[in-house]
Amino acid sequence: MSTFKKHIEQYRTGYLEELKLVKTSGDLEVFRIKHLSRQGLLSDIMNKLKKLDLEEKKIVGPLINTLKKELQSSFTEREHQFKQEQFAAEKLKTKNFDVTAYKPFELQGSLHPYTLVVEQAEDIFLSMGYDIVDGPEVEQEFYNFEALNIPPDHPARDMQDTFWLTLPEYLMRTHTSSVEIHTMKSRKPPIAIVVPGRAYRNEATDASHDFMFMQLEGLFIDKNVSLAQLIATMKMFLQTFFEKKDLSLQLRPSYFPFVEPGVEIDMTCPFCTDGCSVCSRTKWIEICGAGLTHPNVLKACGLDPKKYSGFAFGFGLTRLAMLKYGITDIRLLHSNKLNFLKQF
Ligand code: DAH
Repeated sequence: MSTFKKHIEQYRTGYLEELKLVKTSGDLEVFRIKHLSRQGLLSDIMNKLKKLDLEEKKIVGPLINTLKKELQSSFTEREHQFKQEQFAAEKLKTKNFDVTAYKPFELQGSLHPYTLVVEQAEDIFLSMGYDIVDGPEVEQEFYNFEALNIPPDHPARDMQDTFWLTLPEYLMRTHTSSVEIHTMKSRKPPIAIVVPGRAYRNEATDASHDFMFMQLEGLFIDKNVSLAQLIATMKMFLQTFFEKKDLSLQLRPSYFPFVEPGVEIDMTCPFCTDGCSVCSRTKWIEICGAGLTHPNVLKACGLDPKKYSGFAFGFGLTRLAMLKYGITDIRLLHSNKLNFLKQF
């Protein structure tokens, strides 16, 4: 009997000592399982009690009950302590959290000049009521050439060196003009769209040519559309884009199979008044091809040229980006060089 009492006392001391050493809430759980769970050490003692005879039970029973209560409450106290500590640590974290803190040496990203230029161009055309439209870069001959009034044996096909795919009649689009066709076939006039996107040409690369570049195609189809509307639109766009109110345009006759008449548009150099390196001292910068949509193009898209007319224009967005940001080598735009990209 006294050995049982001794055993209880020893267990009690050991339990409290061990509880003091518990350092984490994970350890506390391990401790709980070891001592207080159904198969724990305290249950072992209770089970041993059952084997004692009645007289012994009368003496040891209350002792064990007191022990159980004491051990339970010291455990709860420790558990409470842990929760308090955890709560205080969490509170400290939020207290010391500074939303305005600057993390030094963190690499700050910036927008690519293409993104900047596309966003500006889109904003300007959206403000004039145009929609932004997208189209496939892998294109069919029909959309890139045929429907744009460039039949298979037409010499104009040589104007744009093409990347042909091994799949017959498929190519990498040589211009974003192909999206004009997709749009006219799927929408009813009036149509006012711009298409920023990549174009591909099978050309040798140098400072001003790359096999891939960005274009911005525009198309406006309605009744009685005139060249005057095209000029006004181009002027408004360029004046806003280059932030220059007194920018003027001049038109030169040119040939593009999908427009008639076709023109090349020059703008006065936005960077000088009497000649600089950007305009090669001419005071004029060639900026886009444009014209009135050719009747054959309207017909290919199922539109009646007697009822509808339109204008189209094609900017080199790459060129616009190079002009706006003074980039002298086109290859930098696709180089992924951080020193270059960090400047924007
Ligand atoms: N697609 C022409 C090119 O890539 C650019 C162009 C010229 C587009 C005249 C037009 C246009 O819409 O009317 O060289």
